Amino acid sequence: MGKIHEVVKWPEPVLAQKAAPVTVFDSKLKQLAEEMFESMYVAQGIGLAAPQIALSQRMFVIDVSFKKNPDDRLVFINPEIIARKGKQVEEEGCLSLPEIREKVERAAWVKARAQDVHGNWFEIEGDELLARAIQHELDHLDGVLFIDRLSRLKRDLVMRRIRKMIKNGEW
Ligand code: NI
Repeated sequence: MGKIHEVVKWPEPVLAQKAAPVTVFDSKLKQLAEEMFESMYVAQGIGLAAPQIALSQRMFVIDVSFKKNPDDRLVFINPEIIARKGKQVEEEGCLSLPEIREKVERAAWVKARAQDVHGNWFEIEGDELLARAIQHELDHLDGVLFIDRLSRLKRDLVMRRIRKMIKNGEW
């Protein structure tokens, strides 16, 4: 097992940055992907983007079945969404915003393209939770958190809650 990386929380500046493309596909990148899965499992998440471990690189991992189905273990490098359809509004959380859960509007279905750890391009389609996870994690690469997609009023309420938790040493 590789290194377990600490997940950084809002308002860590790296979370608000636009991440840089990955250009080197070597054994270190493969190792990093493994470490991201392990770090994500330890943190009890189903998705983890590189900026969340303070690496500003366009890369994330997803496992919507949380270890139950090996086929669900997905690595996305330099991803982009090339098609989207419909609308879903479901509750979302984020390892960088512990305890915060809010309903967020997302596309119901997406088609994405990305590179794997070897640099090979692939396409993937997903709906429901997978579509939501892809959109959520891709946002991280552009410095966007799910709270940035809430109404101004909702976002202000969440911010107030977080500031209170920070003040009380609960964050
Ligand atoms: Ni997140």
